[in-house]
Amino acid sequence: MTTDRVPTHLGIIMDGNGRWAKKRGLPRLLGHRAGLHRLVEMVRLVKKQGIRYFSAYAFSTENWSRPQMEVDGLMSLFRHYIKRRVNELKEEGGRLRFCGRRDRLPADLLEMMRWAEEETRSRTAIDFILCVDYGGRAEILDAVNALVASGHTGEVTEEDLKKFFYLPDVPDPDLIVRTSGELRLSNFLLWESAYSEFYFTDACWPDFDEPELIRALDDYAIRDRRYGGNRS
Ligand code: IPE
Ligand code: IPE
Ligand code: MG
Repeated sequence: MTTDRVPTHLGIIMDGNGRWAKKRGLPRLLGHRAGLHRLVEMVRLVKKQGIRYFSAYAFSTENWSRPQMEVDGLMSLFRHYIKRRVNELKEEGGRLRFCGRRDRLPADLLEMMRWAEEETRSRTAIDFILCVDYGGRAEILDAVNALVASGHTGEVTEEDLKKFFYLPDVPDPDLIVRTSGELRLSNFLLWESAYSEFYFTDACWPDFDEPELIRALDDYAIRDRRYGGNRS
């Protein structure tokens, strides 16, 4: 089914790179590399669908607990992505933004991230948001601490707190997709997903292709979003 009900903001929890590699007898890092290829393609496909914001969960605050070799390999893939892909993203009208903590990543990667954000700042076709060292709980805690440090007095409203989130101007995700058959959020956009629609697929992330994306979007298009009201 095709329809014009397209999410403004799509979030994807890109899971299953390790299992994808294992099934093929390959090291996990080759799964992550295949996942990155898929991500590059997905930014284009998502833009083609008219989606304005695309958030991809690439590394969680809990993923530091993986073996050092895997963590290092993932950091190198992020460097590789920025070095090789930012210019083409820019030419296609994409703005690259990072969402997550900024105090634990390697200094050279942080510098590249700042450069890429600055370089693509004026692009408006799509905001491609890479969630790196991201955790929903960390984001809420960071916001609370920043709000306290700002000297805020009196009652705190949702609007007061949201101003201190990592990307306060980005609307909440309309649809969150998770690949690889896991049925959980794993600390992704906890606050922002309060009224998101969810879609789960068994496909591992490196296998999540255009027909998979269309299936997710078609499923979203027929959802009845009620936001706690009684409109049917
Ligand atoms: C997702 O794939 C990528 C990251 C979390 C960095 P996984 O590495 O979690 O793959 P599985 O879940 O072990 O298959
Ligand atoms: C969630 O995947 C994080 C990312 C996709 C970056 P994980 O593989 O880390 O999540 P769990 O451990 O299965 O919950
Ligand atoms: Mg996983």
